[in-house]
Amino acid sequence: MKRIFVTGIAGFIGFHLALALKKRGDVVVGCDNFNAYYDPALKKERARLLSEAGISVISCDIVDKETIEKNLKEHRITHFVHLAAQAGVRYSLKHPESYVHSNLNGFVQVLEALRSFPEIKLTYASSSSVYGLNSKIPFSETDSVDHPASFYGATKRSNELIAHSYHHIHGLSCTGLRFFTVYGPWGRPDMAYYSFSRAILENEPIPVFGEGKLMRDFTYVDDIVKGTMAAVDLGARCEIFNLGNNTPVSVLDLISMLESHLGQKAQISWQPMPAGDVPITYADIAKSKRILGFEPKTSLYVGLKHFTDWYLEYGLIAK
Ligand SMILES: NC(=O)c1ccc[n+]([C@@H]2O[C@H](COP(=O)([O-])OP(=O)(O)OC[C@H]3O[C@@H](n4cnc5c(N)ncnc54)[C@H](O)[C@@H]3O)[C@@H](O)[C@H]2O)c1
Repeated sequence: MKRIFVTGIAGFIGFHLALALKKRGDVVVGCDNFNAYYDPALKKERARLLSEAGISVISCDIVDKETIEKNLKEHRITHFVHLAAQAGVRYSLKHPESYVHSNLNGFVQVLEALRSFPEIKLTYASSSSVYGLNSKIPFSETDSVDHPASFYGATKRSNELIAHSYHHIHGLSCTGLRFFTVYGPWGRPDMAYYSFSRAILENEPIPVFGEGKLMRDFTYVDDIVKGTMAAVDLGARCEIFNLGNNTPVSVLDLISMLESHLGQKAQISWQPMPAGDVPITYADIAKSKRILGFEPKTSLYVGLKHFTDWYLEYGLIAK
């Protein structure tokens, strides 16, 4: 049995991970600052369900190092999963300060808190965005990641470099997970599959960029949770893994699947490609398969059905 602290626990991935860890018998405690990047009502509802499942959710910001340290001690934490961050590529064009606060300062405060607990193993969320302008596909952990296409991607790459320095200097065990476009029930309203579903049902136009040819390696949240748990269990000294589906799908195909599940046609508003976006993400998962036994099982069609079923029942929680 592990005693695991999860930051960003009321977020999309944190919520699913915490429930899965609890289900297998781990003690789970976590924190979230319930910020308004998207409707906090959705985060509060996730937190309510977590509390119902016997998981403690603390309301605090990750920059509050003392509160984190106090909880690590009080709950005798053995493993730390750091998911709290300012997410979103496009938002980072206009709000860099939010990324500096959570992804740079917050990340360093987490590592500083962990310095006093060298036995705790850290697993943290990185992102496919670190591959930026990399044009070689599929994206492999050994590819160059020196040319981020967005400020968000730059902060996530910084996390990997900063984690490496804490490993080297302070001996911290740390595993970075490069998540590829995670989707599923209880997902994030700012992401395309979610906002498109809402627009389709409300007969509103969907903004589609780059002629709908952009391709994303959509990865179902349960597969991501399994990969993350395998990384927690491995507790590597200092590693980075891709967690993706290894099957990129175009945005137009995503829309057709949503139309089929929702039984309604989408109206499309064609838009030029925004700055910061990349044409394709595509994970090479050979390393994750070999070391973590990572084997994504959910096709986009099936995963989106789980999402739309959830959305039709609960989607109104978030404005
Ligand atoms: N969902 C994806 O497709 C995806 C892809 C790549 C990487 N990631 C990364 O995975 C992690 C989880 O993503 P998610 O999709 O669950 O996002 P999310 O926004 O739903 O979850 C993040 C949670 O962290 C909280 N948070 C943010 N800043 C905080 C701070 N300073 N202090 C305390 N709490 C804070 C937010 O309130 C939110 O509940 C993030 O690090 C994100 O960058 C996600």
